[in-house]
Amino acid sequence: MKTKIFITGSSGFIGFHVSKRYLDKGFKVCGFDSMNNYYDVGLKKSRLRILKNYKSFSFIKGNLENQRNLNNAIYNFKPSIIIHLAAQAGVRYSIQNPQVYLNSNVVGTYHVIEAAKKLKIKHLIIGSSSSVYGANKKFPFQEIDKTDNQVSFYAATKKSTENLAHSYSSLWKLPITILRFFTVYGPWGRPDMAYFKFTKNIIKGKKIDIYNRGKMYRDYTYIDDIVDGIFKLTNKIPKLNQLKKYKNDSLSRVAPFRILNIGNTKKILLLDFINALEKELKKKAVKKFMPMQKGDVYSTLSDTKLLKRITGYNPKTKYQDGIKKFLNWYLNYYN
Ligand SMILES: NC(=O)c1ccc[n+]([C@@H]2O[C@H](COP(=O)([O-])OP(=O)(O)OC[C@H]3O[C@@H](n4cnc5c(N)ncnc54)[C@H](O)[C@@H]3O)[C@@H](O)[C@H]2O)c1
Repeated sequence: MKTKIFITGSSGFIGFHVSKRYLDKGFKVCGFDSMNNYYDVGLKKSRLRILKNYKSFSFIKGNLENQRNLNNAIYNFKPSIIIHLAAQAGVRYSIQNPQVYLNSNVVGTYHVIEAAKKLKIKHLIIGSSSSVYGANKKFPFQEIDKTDNQVSFYAATKKSTENLAHSYSSLWKLPITILRFFTVYGPWGRPDMAYFKFTKNIIKGKKIDIYNRGKMYRDYTYIDDIVDGIFKLTNKIPKLNQLKKYKNDSLSRVAPFRILNIGNTKKILLLDFINALEKELKKKAVKKFMPMQKGDVYSTLSDTKLLKRITGYNPKTKYQDGIKKFLNWYLNYYN
């Protein structure tokens, strides 16, 4: 019988790609998404249309906050694995709209964890973010580093979900993996993210706002590398005695729980990333240099040794190649 995977946020950027990979590999997938209008719903519908071409895909439209609907969806499907990628994303929007983040990310994730506990799910994988490292100055970021000082409300909700998950994992011995994503980009990406806005404006000859005068670094991770990492983790289920095996202090001592970075392990200067876009588009950007934004961090860089030890994870995509692939898709999708 095909393994059943329940994926929240399946119409979102990462959720779409992850769902597609499992379907391509012969798994049965039930997607769950509110199809909210935080960004272009048309893009979410296009992703969903592609997934609906697969016979092994089913879809439930719903809000994580509505516990009864979420439970119905999960209990009817009876998955053995849940991958929770639905969330209100975006650092900037969280400054003006914190309540949405509390509802979707904290209450919503609690509902997913509670359902996973009731169904005795084999492995619950939850999407978190490099933003939980806040303004830490020690690079690269390691899972063992202190993460007590988030600088955006978004990041604070992500950190909260990690804590909620650990408590449930410890209380009920529920196997949970938390994945801290580092700036994910690629085809079918999120229109609210900087590289997407830059592309749109460069093509239209409109100015692009560059914060902190471009002196910012990001560990840009190409979507296919993220999907590879998640896929390889499917059956690597966290166990209580994993500390002995991996000798890594970031693994829980009291729960089948682990936190793993998933990034490209290279930090790229924002201005270099923009240069690569300009080069591929054969057009110069009209640059407006701005001060640092509230809630933003100067730099991110992942250490992914633990994920590599567990799965052999090996991100391959250089940012210049990833940008090419993104632009191919973008120019084709938007004609
Ligand atoms: N893309 C990145 O660079 C990045 C970086 C760090 C962390 N993350 C995390 O990865 C996960 C996926 O992000 P993404 O980039 O695919 O974002 P996305 O916005 O494209 O996808 C999230 C999906 O969740 C759905 N959703 C939001 N709130 C919901 C709710 N309350 N109930 C049901 N559905 C809801 C949205 O409609 C959307 O389709 C999120 O947890 C995000 O915080 C992403």
